[in-house]
Amino acid sequence: MKLIFASSNVNKIREIEAVLPQNIILSGLKEIGITHEIPEPGTTIKENSFLKARFVWDFLKNDTNVSVFADDSGLEVEALNGAPGVYSARYAGEPKNDEANNIKLIQELKNSNNRNAHFITVITLILKGEVYYFEGEIKGSIALRPSGNSGFGYDPLFVPNGYTKTFAELGSEIKNSISHRAIAVKKMKEFLAGL
Ligand code: IMP
Repeated sequence: MKLIFASSNVNKIREIEAVLPQNIILSGLKEIGITHEIPEPGTTIKENSFLKARFVWDFLKNDTNVSVFADDSGLEVEALNGAPGVYSARYAGEPKNDEANNIKLIQELKNSNNRNAHFITVITLILKGEVYYFEGEIKGSIALRPSGNSGFGYDPLFVPNGYTKTFAELGSEIKNSISHRAIAVKKMKEFLAGL
């Protein structure tokens, strides 16, 4: 089965390919000729996930022999009413900068005792023209200062519940076994394996 992943992030493509059933041939955006960023005009993570999958599905002229999926993720912080949420990548403005985002988050929470937060991922799969959603969530808290070198984004600040270290300190093996993205991918994998 041919599956197009609406991403040009080679690391993400390899990471997801490694966990999908072996009969699935995964291609990224480059392989189908999309070299620009797909617009994400939505106001929720779920909407952007859908819009990305839909963009590629339309690009492929709604060919029902091809299936497409897209993922969108973000960090929601309780004391900030769910911010940065859908704006996680560009929380501190353009251009996208992980370090600036982390500094802004620490600043926004400086007077807050409530450090609760969660990451969410929504995968949208368009298979034979039908739309399916797979969601993953991991709860945790925001550390007072960044620690660790692994990962990306808010990993140096996010301490998953049940752990005392940040994602960036825990490393990719632990992170990829418990993360929001891993949970959503696992749900899609189980769905595809049952077809
Ligand atoms: P994306 O939709 O996976 O590209 O995620 C959007 C933004 O959310 C990223 O640029 C990061 O700022 C943040 N984010 C999403 N997933 C993670 C994660 O696993 N660790 C840290 N930050 C993340």
